[in-house]
Amino acid sequence: MFEAGLDGFAHFELAAMSKPDTYKLLASVILPRPIAWVVSKDEAGGVNAAPFSFFNILSADPPLVAIGFSKAPDREKKDTLTNIREHGEFVVNLVPEDLAEAMNVTATNAPRGTDETRLAGLKLAKCAVVDVPRIERSPVALECRLYQVIEPGGSSTIVLAKVVYVHVRANAFEDLERLHIDPSQLRLIGRMHGGGGYCTTRDTFSIERLSWPLESKD
Ligand SMILES: Cc1cc2nc3c(=O)[nH]c(=O)nc-3n(C[C@H](O)[C@H](O)[C@H](O)COP(=O)(O)O)c2cc1C
Repeated sequence: MFEAGLDGFAHFELAAMSKPDTYKLLASVILPRPIAWVVSKDEAGGVNAAPFSFFNILSADPPLVAIGFSKAPDREKKDTLTNIREHGEFVVNLVPEDLAEAMNVTATNAPRGTDETRLAGLKLAKCAVVDVPRIERSPVALECRLYQVIEPGGSSTIVLAKVVYVHVRANAFEDLERLHIDPSQLRLIGRMHGGGGYCTTRDTFSIERLSWPLESKD
C-alpha cells in the first residue's frame, strides 16, 4: 500500500489503494475541516439536517461553496443530496462548540423523512430568501442555492452552491461596520482525524502579510 522511504516519509500511490483507505488517509491529513451543518427540505416539506466536513468556500465572486457527498451506506443517495437536487435550496449552518453533541445526533442514519433537528432538540428560525429554516443557535448561517452538481465518476458527488444571504450573530463582530469578526466569539469547531475527532478554533495566531520586496532581516 505504501513505501516507507529513506527520506522519513511514507509515500502513497492512490491508484493502488482501496477506496476506504484513500478516504481514511486524506480525511486524516487535510485538517482541520470546517463543518457545513446542512438543513434541507424534502419533497413533502419535511426538514432534514446533517453535517458535512468535505466543505469549503471556493470562490467569493461569485460566492460559491462546495460540499462533497460520499455514497450513502443504505440508500441511493444521502437525504441531504436528494433534497438539494430536488428543492435547489438549503442552509449551511456553522457549528459552535456548544452544539457539537446536537450536530452529532443529526449525523445518525435516520430513515428518510425523519426530522433530525427534532431528534437533537434544535430550534429553527426562518430564513430571509430560501424556503428552508436555519438552526437558531448556530452563530453563522449561509442561505444557499444550488449552482452545479458534479459527478466526478466515482461514488462521490460534489455540490457547488451560491451563497445568497448570510446571518451572523451580532456579538461576533468586533467592528460591524468594517466586518471585523472576533472568531473567539463564534467558537466554531472543525473536523479532525479519526472517527470522532474535532478541534476548537480558539488557539489562533497572526502573521502580518508581507509586501514585495521582502525586507532583509540583517
Ligand atoms: C462531523 C461529520 C462530518 C461529516 N462529513 C461528511 C461529508 O463530508 N460527506 C458525507 O457524505 N458525509 C459526511 N458525514 C456523514 C453524514 O453526516 C451522514 O451520512 C448523515 O447521516 C447524512 O444524513 P442525510 O442522509 O440526512 O443527508 C459526516 C458526519 C459527521 C459527524
